[in-house]
Amino acid sequence: MSIDLTAISITEEVQKTFDGAEDERVKELFTCLVRHLHEFTREVRLTSEEWFKAMDFLERVGKTCTPTRQEFVLLSDILGLSVLVDLIYHPGGGSVTDSTLLGPFYVEGRPTAKNGSDISGEVEGTPMFVNCRVLDSDGNPVVNAKVDTWHSDGEGFYDVQMQDKLHNHLAMRALLTTDAEGRFWYRSVTPLYYPVPTDGPCGEILRAAKRSPMRPEHVHFWLHADGFEPLITMLVRSDDPYLEHDAVFGVRRNLVADFVHHDAGETAPDGTRMNEPFQTVEWTFVLSRAED
Ligand SMILES: [Fe+2]
Repeated sequence: MSIDLTAISITEEVQKTFDGAEDERVKELFTCLVRHLHEFTREVRLTSEEWFKAMDFLERVGKTCTPTRQEFVLLSDILGLSVLVDLIYHPGGGSVTDSTLLGPFYVEGRPTAKNGSDISGEVEGTPMFVNCRVLDSDGNPVVNAKVDTWHSDGEGFYDVQMQDKLHNHLAMRALLTTDAEGRFWYRSVTPLYYPVPTDGPCGEILRAAKRSPMRPEHVHFWLHADGFEPLITMLVRSDDPYLEHDAVFGVRRNLVADFVHHDAGETAPDGTRMNEPFQTVEWTFVLSRAED
């Protein structure tokens, strides 16, 4: 290793230290990362003060993370990295349902639920009935697919953001299974547009850029089935004011769904005559076969 380093030669010296990596992908990732990181640093002529601020920022991002608060995922989301990774492998526009980002509110430990059940937990709100089918690209039902779903309440809060009120229970999320016709359905409460959390370090970036923290109203889905590629996706409300202003770039044109309003007195999809207004969402998801 040279001890006569310059602001140019250091890049190659650092890259060479990965020559011994047994895994070629590790070598590729790190030599490329070093090249771009060093180029970035030279281009903006990063100052020591800015470097200290950046290190402090990343430290605070890490310290903000908990099992139910994914600040690093949020950082990736607001910088468009999460969606970029998805777009490279799932450019969309084909016959299968587009994927999109997982978002920071997926958590482990969700309850399983039977089709038709109410997954709202202890949360009150305008009833929402979700009725979906899961098909393969030939139109055949995908039976026994596992479907994770999660969404916010009618004020835009996820269960993990109000654990005191919910006495540490999860709500508005469940794992369902498709029936012999590829159908899954459930009742819950209608979500609302919401801001991504801005009380942590990521909020500093949004405020510095005068960016909106809002995400349009949506319901998340994560589908798994034997023989098919997993699908992480969401349905976004078509008439939402933030439809084209998602803070994390997650809206795809063909994931825009009608959340249909129904007046009190109408009959819900489960046959219940409703004495209050409610909403229905219907959708057909199409999965891609796993490559052999
Ligand atoms: Fe969300």
